[in-house]
Amino acid sequence: MPSDRLPYLTAKLQGFGTTIFAEMSALAVATASVNLGQGFPDTDGPREVADAAVAAIRGGPNQYPPGPGILDLRTAIAEHQARFWGIELDPETEVLVTAGATEAVAATLLALLEVGDEVIVFEPYYDSYAACIALAGARRRVVTLRPPDYAFSLEQLRAAITPKTKLLLLNSPHNPTGKVFTRDELTAIAALCVEHDLVAVTDEVYEHLVYDGEHIPIATMPGMRERTVTISSAGKTFSMTGWKTGWACAPAPLVEAVRTVKQFVTYVHGAPFQHAAAAGLRLPDEYFSSLAGELAAKRDLLASGLADAGFTVYPPSGTYFVTADIRPFGETDGMAFCRSLPERCGVVAVPTVVFYDDVEAGSPLVRFTFCKRREVLEEAVVRLKSLEK
Ligand SMILES: Cc1ncc(COP(=O)(O)O)c(C=O)c1O
Repeated sequence: MPSDRLPYLTAKLQGFGTTIFAEMSALAVATASVNLGQGFPDTDGPREVADAAVAAIRGGPNQYPPGPGILDLRTAIAEHQARFWGIELDPETEVLVTAGATEAVAATLLALLEVGDEVIVFEPYYDSYAACIALAGARRRVVTLRPPDYAFSLEQLRAAITPKTKLLLLNSPHNPTGKVFTRDELTAIAALCVEHDLVAVTDEVYEHLVYDGEHIPIATMPGMRERTVTISSAGKTFSMTGWKTGWACAPAPLVEAVRTVKQFVTYVHGAPFQHAAAAGLRLPDEYFSSLAGELAAKRDLLASGLADAGFTVYPPSGTYFVTADIRPFGETDGMAFCRSLPERCGVVAVPTVVFYDDVEAGSPLVRFTFCKRREVLEEAVVRLKSLEK
């Protein structure tokens, strides 16, 4: 994380300067590099979903939607959760539409955490988690996922839980590692949540991008339905990351708490995109399976290209990211490596160390995204193969 002190920023947010994604995307533009840093597709999602947004704009009303989100989208979210994961929800009380998963995470943490509470989070962690925990005045307790399979130590997890622990924040499929938590792992995590009366907040934005194993929402584990806030969004599933339409699903009292914060952050957002997200969620099963099929082929292309270029590669089971170890190049500083990569071979990646508290664990790892057109990935692989060892 950038450490420059910002004079007007509160002490609790020092160290949370510009996100690494903005820095690396700017570097990609400045150096005309292939940008495999930030995770946004270079082609837009389905035409019928875009058409639904256009129709909603033309047909109106283009006014504030209801606070919890338009009912048609909340109904489509509930249908989706039942269709894919067998989770039954009342769209009136158990679903909240948010400005992306990012707002859902922020509003949930601000709603549920008191100053001084502790949150369990697996590292590497998505960067907004640490910032939102800090915003809430809470403290993160980190459990490390370690390559090659990004497993964690149950003992370390158990030891991280203290009487102050209020909440466990999970992300599966996991950015940046591509790990899909297994049933055994989720069973163990769920048992600890029940034993210690923790709320689970689970970020499942990559729920449909799974190539090996299966996505299991932790809300479906015994004892978890009543203590879980499940978060997702349309951005990754429909390749429309700029629409920022997300949701949080939970029992009514939890949704009510999150909605209370959300109403004072954005109040509501993006009425036409809410109609379009509803259309997306109702697409046939083939849409979701072919998206995963296409991305699995791109994963294979990039993972084998990186291996051929000389990296140690940890192939992901889900998401659209692959992490690679730079030590075969005789280097250990992923930040310096990523800053020099555009000049050395015209490719941008993200240093995974920014997602770690344990700098040593994260330092030699870098993340590449494969949500780009085939020819772009092929060009990136050619360039990466020119890297000198
Ligand atoms: C794990 C994770 N959560 C949340 C988000 C952001 O989701 P949204 O764009 O819906 O706010 C991302 C985007 O990269 C992500 O990787």
